Amino acid sequence: MVKTKTKKTVRKADHYDDPRYNYQDYWTGREYEHAAEEMAIKRLLRGKKFKHAIDVGGGYGRLSKFLTKYADKVTLAEPSQQQLDMARIYLKGATQVDHKLLQAADLQMPAGSVDLVLVARVLHHLPDPVPEFSEIARVLKPGGTFLLEFANDAHFLNRLRYGVRGKKVPKKPVDISTKADPKIPFVNHHPKTIIKLLHDAGFEVEVALSGSNLRSPTLKRIFGKNVLLGVEKVLQPMLAPLYFGPSVWLRLRKR
Ligand SMILES: C[S@@+](CC[C@H](N)C(=O)[O-])C[C@H]1O[C@@H](n2cnc3c(N)ncnc32)[C@H](O)[C@@H]1O
Repeated sequence: MVKTKTKKTVRKADHYDDPRYNYQDYWTGREYEHAAEEMAIKRLLRGKKFKHAIDVGGGYGRLSKFLTKYADKVTLAEPSQQQLDMARIYLKGATQVDHKLLQAADLQMPAGSVDLVLVARVLHHLPDPVPEFSEIARVLKPGGTFLLEFANDAHFLNRLRYGVRGKKVPKKPVDISTKADPKIPFVNHHPKTIIKLLHDAGFEVEVALSGSNLRSPTLKRIFGKNVLLGVEKVLQPMLAPLYFGPSVWLRLRKR
C-alpha cells in the first residue's frame, strides 16, 4: 500500500488574532495571579536546568522570559500571529527566546528534542487535549519535564455550588464560553480526567500545586498583592491534594 502524506490541520486561535481583543490588557489588575503563576513555576523548577524549553500556546510570551531562568533556549510556540507580533515587542532583548507560529498538536520538532514543556492557560481552549498531550510526549525526551497549568472545574467553591444542588462536579469538560465569542472553545477541566489522559499519554505526576487560591477582587482590594502572595506561598502545596484553587499546576515526568 502506498502511504500518502497527510498534512495536519492547524487549529487557528482566532480569538487571539482578533484586533479588537488585546490579551496583554487582560493582565492589568491581575498582578497577583501573574505573580502566583511565576511562584508556582519557580517552585516546580527549583534547582533544575534545561537545554531547550517550549512555551506551548505562550501568547505574547508572558511566561517565556521567566523560563529563560531555567532553560538555555526557549521556543515560544504560538498559533496566533497577533500574539507573536506582540511578543516581538514584549520579548525585545530576550535573545534566548525564538518565536514560532505553531499549534500544540503539531509542534514540528524532532522526537525527543526538548527537555521542558510549559502549557499554561491553554487547556481551556482544548476540550479534548489527547492529540496535544501525545505531541508533547513525542517532542519531550524520556525523563523530560512537562509543566501544565489548567483551569480547575472542581475547585472548592464550585464543589460547594454543585453540592448545594445535590450534584457532583462533572468529569467531562464544562463549557464556560459566552455567546460573545464563539470562535474558540472555552472549557474548564476536572483534574482527575486530565490526570488520566496524561497518564495514558505517558506522563507521571511528580508534584501538584493549587494555584491562585485567593483570586478574589474583594480580597485583593482589602489585603493587597503582597499579603495575598505571602499566604498563597503557604497554600499552593498545602491545598494541592484538595484541588482547592481555580488553577491546578502539575509537574509531570515523561516515562
Ligand atoms: C489565555 S492565552 C495563554 C497564553 C500564555 N500561555 C499565558 O499564560 O499568558 C491562551 C493561548 O493559547 C493559544 N492557543 C489556543 N489554541 C491553541 C492550540 N491549539 N495550540 C497552541 N496554542 C493555542 C492562544 O493563541 C493563546 O495565545
